[in-house]
Amino acid sequence: STGGRLQWSSRLTFILAAAGSAVGLGNIWKFPYITGENGGGAFVLVYLACILVIGIPVMMAEIMIGRRSQQNPTGAMATMAKEAGANPLWKGVGWMAIICGFLILSFYTVISGWTLSYTVSSVTGAFDTITPDAAGAMFGGMLADPAQLLMWSTVVVVTTMYIVSRGLHAGLEKAINYMMPLLIALVLVMVGYATSTGHFAEAINFLFTPDFSKLSTEAVLVALGHAFFTLSLASGAIMTYGSYVSKSTSIAKTSIMIGIFDTAVALLAGLAIFPIVFAYGLEPGAGPGLIFVTLPIAFGQMPYGTLFGSLFFVMLSMAALTSAISMIEPTVSWLTEKRKMSRGKASALVGLVLWTLGLGTVFSFNIWQDNTLFGKTFFDAIDFLTANLMMPLGGLLVALFAAWVMKSNVVKEELGLGGGLLFTAWQFVMRFITPIAIVVVFLNALGFINI
Ligand code: PHE
Ligand code: NA
Repeated sequence: STGGRLQWSSRLTFILAAAGSAVGLGNIWKFPYITGENGGGAFVLVYLACILVIGIPVMMAEIMIGRRSQQNPTGAMATMAKEAGANPLWKGVGWMAIICGFLILSFYTVISGWTLSYTVSSVTGAFDTITPDAAGAMFGGMLADPAQLLMWSTVVVVTTMYIVSRGLHAGLEKAINYMMPLLIALVLVMVGYATSTGHFAEAINFLFTPDFSKLSTEAVLVALGHAFFTLSLASGAIMTYGSYVSKSTSIAKTSIMIGIFDTAVALLAGLAIFPIVFAYGLEPGAGPGLIFVTLPIAFGQMPYGTLFGSLFFVMLSMAALTSAISMIEPTVSWLTEKRKMSRGKASALVGLVLWTLGLGTVFSFNIWQDNTLFGKTFFDAIDFLTANLMMPLGGLLVALFAAWVMKSNVVKEELGLGGGLLFTAWQFVMRFITPIAIVVVFLNALGFINI
């Protein structure tokens, strides 16, 4: 029995929704620019290892905790701790996840706003025959205009609030069914264009030939953090989506599918973007503006560029929205379950808080850009705090909880890996490999040890 809790309409819907959460700005905006900043191949290899050894096993744990408890992240951790006879403080893992999701949203809505703004630019033909310099100036001009940024992030907040307030079936499921296939198709169109630039081989080389001398200890931490970020882990999103999963769904199989899908989109995005970077002599380490400078140049050159460009930025905006929605859902679920608020009220409240938090990012590119926190700009500091500190820490705690604290037979039954070798392997990885890897990467990047 589900105790009256909402459930996804089908296994496929859950996969699409989780994939909708996973595939977002992380794949198409963040992955290429952090890969560029961190030297390419070796970084990509470490990232892929983190997805496989840490990301997918932790995703299985989060879905399991959500589904077994049938609750929002704080309630889920509390209930599972109680079931295992463990310390009630484990609930804090749920709180940290919710706070982390909110902090991410404070910039995610703003970057989603950039994509909306670029959708309009594309539709109105602003990319036609744009030069690389003009593309750079266009991006800089947008950042220097807080009123414009605020307008677009407001549109994002209002839209996501509206979708969340409509609920699981009418809101979330519908949007995702149409969007995901189209997004893949457009990324493939971009990769197709990239093969015609004459720099495709160079991009393959950059992405897949590891040069470990370029890999800093901080880059390893960034790769680890991004594995959590891109799979929507340690933020309450996947745990909450997991709480709507039916008992008959195999957690192991679906996690692997979501992981492969998310990774494929990120790699394809890299293959679409780096050939353009090299063809036009742009800087791979240009940072957060990378795709907003390279893609307009490509759309300006390719046949039907206005059409493809417009469709692409629409899709990217939607991918961003489905991810943002999944970050809002845990808090709305908490407010409706624990505070007995209506979904509409909860969504409005969350939207208001979010909009206010977004102001920090909106102005960070302009007024605060010369001021720094931990030696970073405001946006970079929040990004570092969430993706590189809170998420690996949250993931570590989930791994320890699922593999050491929860009862082995319960976990075995929930995961759907069978009782044999696969389960033993999962448990071994989560007990030893994942925690040790996270701790070592942390200590190394923060300078406590030197490996
Ligand atoms: N996974 C999303 C992306 O790659 C971001 C995200 C993080 C979504 C945390 C939900 C929770 O863009
Ligand atoms: Na992602």
